[in-house]
Amino acid sequence: MEAQKYKRYTITAALPYANGPKHIGHLAGAYIPADLYARYLRLKRREVVFACGSDEHGTAIANQAMKEGTTPRAIIDKYHELIKYCFDKLNISFDIYHRTSEPIHHQTAQDFFTVLNDKGDFEVKESEQYYDEQAGAFLADRYIVGTCPVCGNDNAYGDQCEKCGSSLSPDELIDPRSTLSGNKPVKRPTKHWYLPLDKYEGWLREWILEGHTEWKTNVYGQCKSWIDGGLHPRAVTRDLDWGIKVPVEGADGKVLYVWFDAPIGYISATKQWALDNGKDWKTYWQDPETKLVHFIGKDNIVFHCIVFPAMLKAHGEFILPDNVPANEFMNLEGDKMSTSRGWSIEMHEYLEDLPNKIDELRYYLTAIAPETADSEFTWKDYQARVNNELVAILGNLVNRVMILMHKFFDGKVESTTGAITLENEALNTELGKLYNDLEQSFESYKFRQAQQIMMDMARLGNRYLTEQEPWKTIKTDPEAARTALHNCLVLIGHIATCAQPFMPGTAQKIFNMLNWPADAVHFDEPISFANGHQLNAASLLFEKLEDEVIEKQVQKLIAKKASIEKPAEVSAPALVPAKENIVYDQFAAMDIRTGTILTAEKVAKTKKLLKLTIDTGLDQRTVVSGIAEYFEPEAIIGKQVSILVNLEPREIKGILSQGMILMAENAEGVLSFVSPGEGMHNGSVVR
Ligand code: 2FM
Ligand code: ZN
Repeated sequence: MEAQKYKRYTITAALPYANGPKHIGHLAGAYIPADLYARYLRLKRREVVFACGSDEHGTAIANQAMKEGTTPRAIIDKYHELIKYCFDKLNISFDIYHRTSEPIHHQTAQDFFTVLNDKGDFEVKESEQYYDEQAGAFLADRYIVGTCPVCGNDNAYGDQCEKCGSSLSPDELIDPRSTLSGNKPVKRPTKHWYLPLDKYEGWLREWILEGHTEWKTNVYGQCKSWIDGGLHPRAVTRDLDWGIKVPVEGADGKVLYVWFDAPIGYISATKQWALDNGKDWKTYWQDPETKLVHFIGKDNIVFHCIVFPAMLKAHGEFILPDNVPANEFMNLEGDKMSTSRGWSIEMHEYLEDLPNKIDELRYYLTAIAPETADSEFTWKDYQARVNNELVAILGNLVNRVMILMHKFFDGKVESTTGAITLENEALNTELGKLYNDLEQSFESYKFRQAQQIMMDMARLGNRYLTEQEPWKTIKTDPEAARTALHNCLVLIGHIATCAQPFMPGTAQKIFNMLNWPADAVHFDEPISFANGHQLNAASLLFEKLEDEVIEKQVQKLIAKKASIEKPAEVSAPALVPAKENIVYDQFAAMDIRTGTILTAEKVAKTKKLLKLTIDTGLDQRTVVSGIAEYFEPEAIIGKQVSILVNLEPREIKGILSQGMILMAENAEGVLSFVSPGEGMHNGSVVR
């Protein structure tokens, strides 16, 4: 039925940002499942294009370049190559791995924008946005920090406070600062183009919530909560000098928002592939007989299920995704995987350390794929799966059959009755059933299950071989031994075919041993050997993973995290930028004295405030200080400090505070009193 409904398939995998290496969690989330699906479809002789590439625009890349004192181009060139190289080594079978910095993509994205703009699909609005005058840039919400109005966290972001979880807008932050310069940003008016998602709400509700009830629960659930929460217009342009220019007059200094151009990257990649291969890209994106499937991680659901489809719908000439089988996240050894925190296995690191264990990784990542919930990679479990499943089940079957064929029959497949096929009804029936289940699993994006079924074929072979005992019957009934081994060989041909999506290198090794061209086999099609067929020499498919190998990886992970947690050894912490000069009189106007803390107590109903009584030498006075999160009241009584005594008194939480204690604060936010040395009596002048 499936084959009748769709003539061809457009498969995409999320375009990774080319601003850093990608880890195995990304692989498990999007790239391996997409590859499995594409390979399965090709095995079914279906017409497929599998497109991906680097996502090379956006504020994050522009700001990273600014901070590192380099150019966005230098960053994207480096990581595009690294990521592409890794995917290649890991056998991800993209038909094209493109780049959003390519001219064909810029043109495609601009044309797309123009179609929507000409149709009047955008709302154009002017608004006040934060601007960093020193950096000369408008600030995305993430690049503004300030005090959270809910919990008082000094480092809340303009979109969210990570301490209390409140979602914020930059306007809500108290004392906002730019993360680019540390300065207070100013408001500037700016014009932007908005995609009015609110106008698509009704259509999205019908298309997804009624029309795609078959989507994975995690995906459907996220869509429902976005739609039920109400959709709002989204700006599709940004004030930035890195990206695709907005193709409209009067839009100087503006580029398309990276999430507007990135999914169009799937289309431009397909265009380039079509040009390179003499195809018509339009059939892959505009023909309703094409099935479009996006493979992504759960953090990309809203863009692929709501924003991009709304764009496609607005344009009017494109097909919509049939499915978006997004995965959850894969954790690592009990913690969230994170490159910046050093708790990750980057693809290139794995390839450096275990270059000959590609299929082992593919197998394990599929076995624990986070298809319905977050899952967990552990090196011990990886070892167990390799040793107990790949070595003990699949490797063992192939090895035993090959060795016995060579030992008893010199590796020759011979029969008096012609071509050699599967001559066992029970085996045939069981194999047919497994093929059926396998197909169902692939078609419903249940790749974990599909891989288990492929392994069940190997289990079936092992059971059959053990029952037949050709190593015994060879003495009593050599023809029975021969038939049993021939049946196993045919079965192994089917297993290699079905293993091909999961472990292409292993499938190739098996085909080599069987002395067969790999492209001759297809999903669920009969396999037979010609009379007289000569097998090649046997070789081991998998090696057992020893404890030392695994232990080394665990230690490496721990060491990597530790080295990132001590950044002081690697680089100096970022300092607060210097302030502008003042004249001497401004300094001289401050009356700073040494004093001693006599009493200290928490201010009720606050987290940060301490009420202190200070002997200033001049008097005893009350000062309210925001240091409660750093010091226990009892611990600071008797401490000599410096205090600005002529600060205008002010009321804080109903207490009159007369002065301010001087504190030193380092880049990590650690506070320390600025205290005089020995022998200074209270009231000594600090100048
Ligand atoms: O989240 C990400 O890594 C994005 N670069 C994914 C983009 S997917 C698509 F839209 F291109
Ligand atoms: Zn907060």
